[in-house]
Amino acid sequence: MAVSCDSTPMGTLPPGPSEPPLVQTLRWLLRPISFLESCRRRYGDTFSVSFLGFQTPMVMLADPDAIRALYTVPGHTLPPGRTIALQPIVGSRSLLLLEGREHLARRRLMLPPFHGERMRAYEATVREVVAAEVESWPEDEPFPLHPRMQAVTLEVILRAVFGVTDPARRTQLAEALGRLLAGTSSAGVQFGVLLFRRFGGPDPLAAMAALRREIDGMLGAEIAERRADPREDILSLLVTARFEDGEPMDDQEVRDQLMTLLLAGHETTATGLAWTFDLLLRHPHALERLVAAVDAGEEAYLRAVVSESLRLRPVIPLAGRRLSQELRVNGHVLPPDTDVTPAIWLTHTRPDRYPEPYAFRPERFLENAPATYAWVPFGGGVRRCIGAAFAEMEMRVVLAEILRRRTLRPASDAAERVARRNVTFSPRTGTQTIASPR
Ligand code: HEM
Repeated sequence: MAVSCDSTPMGTLPPGPSEPPLVQTLRWLLRPISFLESCRRRYGDTFSVSFLGFQTPMVMLADPDAIRALYTVPGHTLPPGRTIALQPIVGSRSLLLLEGREHLARRRLMLPPFHGERMRAYEATVREVVAAEVESWPEDEPFPLHPRMQAVTLEVILRAVFGVTDPARRTQLAEALGRLLAGTSSAGVQFGVLLFRRFGGPDPLAAMAALRREIDGMLGAEIAERRADPREDILSLLVTARFEDGEPMDDQEVRDQLMTLLLAGHETTATGLAWTFDLLLRHPHALERLVAAVDAGEEAYLRAVVSESLRLRPVIPLAGRRLSQELRVNGHVLPPDTDVTPAIWLTHTRPDRYPEPYAFRPERFLENAPATYAWVPFGGGVRRCIGAAFAEMEMRVVLAEILRRRTLRPASDAAERVARRNVTFSPRTGTQTIASPR
């Protein structure tokens, strides 16, 4: 488990599956967990996979010490791919896409509004959104929870992050953003964008141009209002913040960062919630204990449930880097420019760190906090998720408010299987549930 960075001669990449990239890509897209598990059985904690569209193999790590070595070098860059998929929506100055000094300058400016203590201010907003949402649920008949969680997290972003107070404007913006996200995230459109970049021809995103202009107009109006009259929302904090040279972000950049926060924070949190409910529905003792804790106003078990769910069902499976310098991990010397990523699922299911790794046991987080790099649902280092504290707060409040109001039971016997949805691991049938008033 030697982990260090220095300048010894170039090494060979760790071994990995020998199938052609097309086969490995299909296995990853269709059966990601079984693909990862079979690599672990065969090659251990460190292995190389070859995916279509990548010029070179990608090295996957499942050892927390190796992940620490990767994430604690701030100079590594991003692997290719993110820009193609995201730039059309988030814009070129998005925190998700910038590198090096430009990235760090934005990060410094954007982190303070997401500081843990500030989150208290947003709890009341989340509570209101959930209370209204639950009222619209059918009683005693099956419905999928995942889309309901998406509605909640979108509304929360529009209120707490964008600060849109006018309900009519919120409805209009939610509807337009929903169409944009649906229209740009399908696999067909993403593949079309790749072909367009490579070969030219009709731009598959041209149809979205009018919609984007419409959304930009609405966001522009919000930005102007907040510049004139800042409030408590995150947009207000962004327009009043200053870079180190004293300059503010211009309107175009603020717009890019708003779309970034929407894209990074909406589907992820909704999916984390859908998984948490799925796990609770399959573990009645844990659900019972959680309801009792919520009724008693205790937070420790609630926090443990969120941590355990993000361990056992990590929403984002990979958060990689392209090496800026050599990296030594598990006896391998990985040369600069290698793409390396933690395999988050494999890291979270190590029996040496998590006894009975496949069991849903929130208690484990009450007994021992895991080492930092053994629990990485939010990535790490200088690119660690800036919304982590926000997402955990939102998950806690949504869980507590729903369980206070409704008794939930599963609508089918089978636990959800993992399906890939854009860049996430998502519950395949949307967490079908039956809810009754308490
Ligand atoms: C359960 C919910 C969430 C999960 C699982 C999640 C996960 C992640 C992961 C894995 C990364 C990449 C980290 C890396 O490369 O090291 C990331 C980055 C990011 N996330 Fe989250 N996220 C969640 C919620 C949110 C929320 C609520 C927001 C904001 C409202 C947000 C904003 C961001 C941003 C802006 C980045 C880019 C950071 C950078 O590149 O410096 N995320 N997130």
